[in-house]
Amino acid sequence: MQTLREAIETARAKGIAIGHFNVSDSNQFNAVVAAGVATTLPVIIGVSEGERKWIGVRNAVALAAAARAEGHQVYLNADHTYSFDGIKEAVDAGFDSVIFDGSHLSMEENSAQTRAAVEYARAVGNGTLVEGEIGRIGTSSKLLDVPPEDMDKNLTTAEEAATFVKETGVDLLAPAVGTMHGRLKSGTEPKIDIGRIKLLREAAGIPLVLHGGSGSSDADLAAAGKAGCVIIHINTDIRIAYRKGIEAALTANADEIAPYKFLAQGTQAVREITEKYLKLFAGQ
Ligand code: G3H
Ligand code: ZN
Repeated sequence: MQTLREAIETARAKGIAIGHFNVSDSNQFNAVVAAGVATTLPVIIGVSEGERKWIGVRNAVALAAAARAEGHQVYLNADHTYSFDGIKEAVDAGFDSVIFDGSHLSMEENSAQTRAAVEYARAVGNGTLVEGEIGRIGTSSKLLDVPPEDMDKNLTTAEEAATFVKETGVDLLAPAVGTMHGRLKSGTEPKIDIGRIKLLREAAGIPLVLHGGSGSSDADLAAAGKAGCVIIHINTDIRIAYRKGIEAALTANADEIAPYKFLAQGTQAVREITEKYLKLFAGQ
């Protein structure tokens, strides 16, 4: 099976993006894997600090190993990690990639801490890719009344991208290009700055990752992939699908108490939305 680095190279050569989907439990995990199998596309499964505290770091690694043992192209990412200890834990556990998120810090501090994450991953030498993050796109995959406060003022510039990559040695860069974590309740879609993605891809010289995919238009997401975002993150829409599916199952059968029955509809909904996004990102 290809390493994540190789899978990224393959996607770049094809001009497509790989879907990254966050999960909190094994039902969602299996749903994302099933979507990858159905579409014959690789999937990256992300677990943020809160998500991996719930699912368990070792459990997530074991689920990924089980999927791979069945021949499925599944990669595991330690999403939005705010501490060196968190990076260390994920690298040691064998995650395919980790994200050190120092986007709330000054550029200098972000660079220094991200550099430390890169050095640790390289020293361990198990091939874990390190992603760095700059700019502001909000912090939570939830339903929002208003966009994150400092979003528009902090879109990433070409100079910031080039300097950050040079100073840190990261493998992947998550810039701010107009998306936001979460989805606006109003339904208003953020506008992704496709021109900026092209400039940043050139300036950074490494693949870009688009965070905050939920809430943007399909056309913008597809264009972002073509412009240089080789990985696209979706979380809020996964959470919404899961909850709505479970709610519908319980509404239809209020006396159902078997978890494997009332959770099945939520799981199926996660699989469906994941398949939709995988096909979009692959230009299918
Ligand atoms: O890291 C996770 C994502 O960037 C997801 O963003 O919740 O807006 O889809 P989203
Ligand atoms: Zn994110």
